[in-house]
Amino acid sequence: MQVYLKDWGGEQLISCFDQPTGSLILIGIHSSILGPATGGTRMMSYASDDLAISDCLRLSKSMTYKFALADFPRGGGKAVISIPASLSDKDRKGLLKRYGQLVNKLNGLFYTGPDIGISQDDLEEIGKYAPNYVFCKTNNQGQANHSGEATALGVLSAIKSTIWHLYSNDELENKVILVQGAGSVGHALILLLLEEKASVLFTDIKPPSKILIDKGAQFVAPEEIFKQECIVFSPCAQGGILDNETIKQLNCKAVVGAANNQLVNDEALELLREKDILYAPDFAVNIGGAMVVTGIETFNWSNEKVSAEIEKIGSTLELIYDSAEEKNISTVDAALEIVRNRLQQKVYDL
Ligand code: PHE
Repeated sequence: MQVYLKDWGGEQLISCFDQPTGSLILIGIHSSILGPATGGTRMMSYASDDLAISDCLRLSKSMTYKFALADFPRGGGKAVISIPASLSDKDRKGLLKRYGQLVNKLNGLFYTGPDIGISQDDLEEIGKYAPNYVFCKTNNQGQANHSGEATALGVLSAIKSTIWHLYSNDELENKVILVQGAGSVGHALILLLLEEKASVLFTDIKPPSKILIDKGAQFVAPEEIFKQECIVFSPCAQGGILDNETIKQLNCKAVVGAANNQLVNDEALELLREKDILYAPDFAVNIGGAMVVTGIETFNWSNEKVSAEIEKIGSTLELIYDSAEEKNISTVDAALEIVRNRLQQKVYDL
């Protein structure tokens, strides 16, 4: 754990073992330079405590990158709750209560919202004990409700600017886009792509949604996904999917998706460059949900403001592509340059 924390470069890792359920609660406060640490709560089973810890650290760091790139006044944080393989409803409720109490006790050090394994009802439950620090609670006046759609709008904006970069127009009609995962983000993204008349292939671990099929999206079996010929491959499920094996199979011009931490390591980034596949850094693409929800619930953003900020996701990506080309560096390095400048600028301003 020492080694992880040293390499992480974050501010603090709050950890707590929940005795009644045998769950490990982790809250990574990566950076509060730009504002209070904010990020989703991920709740799932991990094969080991080590994996849960490294996930929490990596995810909280990418929240810092996302907010800095979007020039949004929030810092990076993330909670990971590693639960046993089975948890009764009663135990789950108890765990969420204790987690909510912990978030409340932090008194604004950490603000949270949804992520993998957390439903609206769960957020509602957590919010009962930490009312000021939980986004996306159900049916609350003025609350943004859910973040999947806003994330999908941001991914669409990023896909369009990628198509622009490749073809000098952002026409999606008949362009093949491959979406991995049809959960809250993937499903919304597929609908948006179909509206733009793109030719959509998708996969999911669940049986395909009838709505998507009826509207013309084509289902591909999960194991067949990587080798499909397409223009843009859009990973919108779990992270860690781009490695030596999967990159070898890819038959696309660009990867632009919402999943957090898509690349297993730096080598994966090199492999993509060797194959001349344009990689849109995930943290540049998937900020839509967290930004819009926080913008609406904290700063009362209007619909116009939301649309303008979503558009900015595409234009920032364009800057990243251009700067990477100009300096002959990877797109991730180009994005991190912007992040570092924003963080440093703020430190100087203090
Ligand atoms: N799941 C979101 C992300 O990874 C986190 C989030 C959503 C945080 C909504 C706050 C509000 O970006």
